[in-house]
Order: sequence, then C-alpha cells, then structure tokens
Amino acid sequence: MSEYENLLIEHRDALTIVTINRPKALNALNSATLTELGSALDALAGDRHTRVVIVTGGGEKAFVAGADITEMRSLSPEGGREFARRGQRVFAQLEELPQPVIAAVNGFALGGGCELAMACDIRIAAENARFAQPETGLGITPGFGGTQRLRRLVGPGRAKELLFTGDTIDAAEAVRIGLADRLVPAGGAMAAAVAMAEKIAAKGAAATRYTKVAVQRGADMNLAAATAYEAEVFALCFADPEQAQRMGDFVDKRPPRRT
Ligand code: CAA
Repeated sequence: MSEYENLLIEHRDALTIVTINRPKALNALNSATLTELGSALDALAGDRHTRVVIVTGGGEKAFVAGADITEMRSLSPEGGREFARRGQRVFAQLEELPQPVIAAVNGFALGGGCELAMACDIRIAAENARFAQPETGLGITPGFGGTQRLRRLVGPGRAKELLFTGDTIDAAEAVRIGLADRLVPAGGAMAAAVAMAEKIAAKGAAATRYTKVAVQRGADMNLAAATAYEAEVFALCFADPEQAQRMGDFVDKRPPRRT
C-alpha cells in the first residue's frame, strides 16, 4: 500500500520504481504530486538498498503531460515563481540522487514531463512516446529547468527550435537529436528500463555512485578540474571493500559477486 496519493513506489530487490500516478490527468504535476515526489526522493537518497531508480508514468498514455495547467492558470507572478522553484528543487533532488535514475518514457512527455525525463540520467523512449516543450503556446516559459537542460542535451539551435515552436517530436526523433537515449517498441519502456537497471545493479554499488557524481560534477568544470575530481573518486573506490573483492575475483578467475 503506497503512502502517497499520486505516486506509486515499488521496491524490486535493488531497484525502486517511482510511478507518477494521476492517469486521469495524464499524470500532470500539481503541487501535491511535487511535494510527494520530493518526500519519496528524500527517502531514496538515504536508501542504501536501492541501487537504481526508475521513473515512469501510470496508465497507458502518458509519462507526464506537464505541470498541472488547471492549477497554474490563476497563479500570480509570486505564485508562479514559487511553483517554478518548487518544481526545480524537486527535479534537482532527482538529478542529484546518488543512484542512477532511468526514465521509462511510456507516452506523452510534455512540458514538465519532458523536464522530468531530462532530470533523469538516462531516457528510454517507447515508440509511442512524444516529447515537447509546449509552454509558449500557453503563454509561459518552461519553469522546471526546460530552457537549460534541453540546451545541454541537444544544443542551442535544436533546443530553441523546440522551445519556440512547441513542436511535438516522436521517440525516434528524440533519440536522433539526443533528447532520449534508447528507442524500444511501444509498451516496452519498463521492461527495457528494468533490464538496464539490473545490469547496473550488478556492478559495484559505490563505484556506480562515484561514477555518477564524477559525470555530474565534471559537467560544470573545466577538463583539468574535472579529471582531478575523477582521480579523487577513483581513489575513494580503493577504500571500498568491493574493489578488493571484485578485482580479486577477476584475478582468481571467479565470477563477480555482488555485495
Ligand atoms: N494539466 C492538467 N490537466 C491535464 C494536462 C495538464 N498538463 N494534460 C492533460 N490533462 C488532462 C486533460 O485536461 C483531460 O482532463 P479531463 O478528462 O478532465 O478533461 C485529461 O488530462 C486527458 O487529456 P485530453 O483529453 O486532453 O487527452 P488527449 O489525448 O486529447 O490529449 C495531450 C493529450 C495532447 C497530452 C493533451 O492533454 C495536452 O495537450 N495536454 C497539455 C500538455 C501541455 O501543454 N503540457 C505543458 C504544461 S505547462 C508546463 O509543464 C510548465 C512547466 O514547465 C512547469
């Protein structure tokens, strides 16, 4: 039984699946859902048992069809700022989770939904997935990081085209431009995400977390600082018992064991 109204949290061995679950509103993110997601992410950040997180949308049609327009329509400028900041805080929490996070994009990923997917480490798109930042059509800008993460993923020209036109692109195009990372048949996003997550979970847990943090932190540094940071996380691995065990298994020709 989930403790949340708008989220389902499923623990499957070392994986945790977070489902945004408001299918009647195509999983649109209202304040209540953002607050619940923030709490769920707080719990996951301290959960040593969870090695990989998968984020998806409930129902057949949508990953997440955006921030909740019904709730946003009567916001004041102050309310708009607070709503954007709230979403941005939660998406930063998601991006900064120590575990790798895979988005299983199973349908519409529009506005805040596309932004949610972009805050994940890896995006698996089902053939029926659709991506867009349609905010200008509603008279607003993206507010949950879309103007920034989209440019970082696809480059300024393509990002601006998508942001200015609000065009919806299909999953194959999203993969082609680097907005999504892998294309799978319709209905197959979760199975593909679980298969990828199981592979990741079979690797060294600390090594995986350090690898994520090196990629994340390094993105905001110059190459010299980023490689120096890499050397530090590399060093930390040698303080972890799994390194000795896994290298010992290799040298002694035993299959790798998960701790
Ligand atoms: N907010 C609130 N409700 C939403 C919603 C949203 N973002 N998206 C869909 N819904 C609701 C619809 O209002 C509808 O509710 P009712 O049944 O009560 O009428 C229900 O979900 C089903 O939607 P549709 O009937 O519209 O389904 P469809 O198949 O005809 O169309 C769709 C699907 C193309 C995704 C269409 O729903 C749509 O365009 N949704 C809005 C997408 C959008 O503009 N998202 C960006 C929001 S702004 C944002 O996210 C800002 C930000 O960066 C923070």
